[in-house]
Amino acid sequence: MLLEKSKAEMGPCDHALAGVILAKRGRHLIEYQPSGKQGDRKPVMTKNNYTIRTMTRREVGIAVDWAAAEGWNPGLYDADSFYAADPNGFLVGSIGDEPVSTISVVKYGDSFGFLGLYIVKPGYRGKGYGIQIWNAGLARLKGRVIGLDGVLAQQGKYAKSGFELAYRNVRYQGTGGGHSPADPAVVRLSALPFDDIRAYDKPFFPDERAQFLKSWIDQPQSAALGILRDRKLAGYGVLRVCRSGYKVGPLFADSPEFAERLFLALKAKAPAGSPIFLDIPEVNPAAVDLVKRHNMSAAFETARMYAGKISDMPMDRLFGVTTFELG
Ligand SMILES: CC(C)(COP(=O)(O)OP(=O)(O)OC[C@H]1O[C@@H](n2cnc3c(N)ncnc32)[C@H](O)[C@@H]1OP(=O)(O)O)[C@@H](O)C(=O)NCCC(=O)NCCS
Repeated sequence: MLLEKSKAEMGPCDHALAGVILAKRGRHLIEYQPSGKQGDRKPVMTKNNYTIRTMTRREVGIAVDWAAAEGWNPGLYDADSFYAADPNGFLVGSIGDEPVSTISVVKYGDSFGFLGLYIVKPGYRGKGYGIQIWNAGLARLKGRVIGLDGVLAQQGKYAKSGFELAYRNVRYQGTGGGHSPADPAVVRLSALPFDDIRAYDKPFFPDERAQFLKSWIDQPQSAALGILRDRKLAGYGVLRVCRSGYKVGPLFADSPEFAERLFLALKAKAPAGSPIFLDIPEVNPAAVDLVKRHNMSAAFETARMYAGKISDMPMDRLFGVTTFELG
């Protein structure tokens, strides 16, 4: 069973920077004005009363709730790690006081950004609100390579916006619990220096994500495990509690055998019989073998797309994507 940790405080944040987007003629972004002043959240009204600004920490929770309503099954504590990644990386569009659109445009290091949580509240779709917050998001990530995991229905539109398909990620569903043979090489990540974990993680992500990673591997109701070879990390993975069941992500390992051992250990930490999910890049045949071996079935898929070129990643060692929302 999972080791329970105390639930993180979910209070509103008072120090988010306000950013304001002005939109003209319904659909086209003309200006992005981050205020730069802490605590300044004054919205600028557009003709149709639609304003776009940076979210507070509490509003990130709203975006995650909307993601849940879309059936994306976010983790219960995702908002904390998302916000830790880049507190200014979440935009909300409102009509009056009512939030109607969200997008995350998280900056990593100097060169990379990841776009997610692109959602317009049902009832407001098809009226030009989405494309405006999309443009505002792209403006925030200008000059960077941008990644996203798009639902299949949107892939063609993202292609029009300059994104190219890299590969398909497929969500597989199985059952948690089960026997995990005692494996002395499998250790809790909390027993290892953070710098070792960060160094292991580095080749799997296009730029720096230390703040995110620190929070991600230390979530409540989670299990974060590494596997050692000659006392050095040869893989790691995280199991976290979600709205439905548990997700394993990331799952990185030097070999299919290490991935299997880690997966077994993580799966055993979930309550027996609970649903567990693993999002695999379809381009890694060893990851496909892993989910088939565990009788998991495909439940959902996304298109990993990039605008701009990223350096090659070790896809043969990538058995589980960290998240579809933040990369
Ligand atoms: C996808 C979604 C956010 C779009 O928002 P929306 O408010 O309905 O879209 P808009 O009314 O602003 O679209 C206006 C136009 O811009 C286009 N557009 C919207 N987003 C676009 C994008 N990212 N790139 C290119 N074109 C886009 C639309 O196709 C539409 O074009 P059309 O007038 O030729 O039909 C919304 O439909 C939604 O919330 N869907 C469910 C959640 C979801 O699937 N999100 C995407 C996850 S990858």
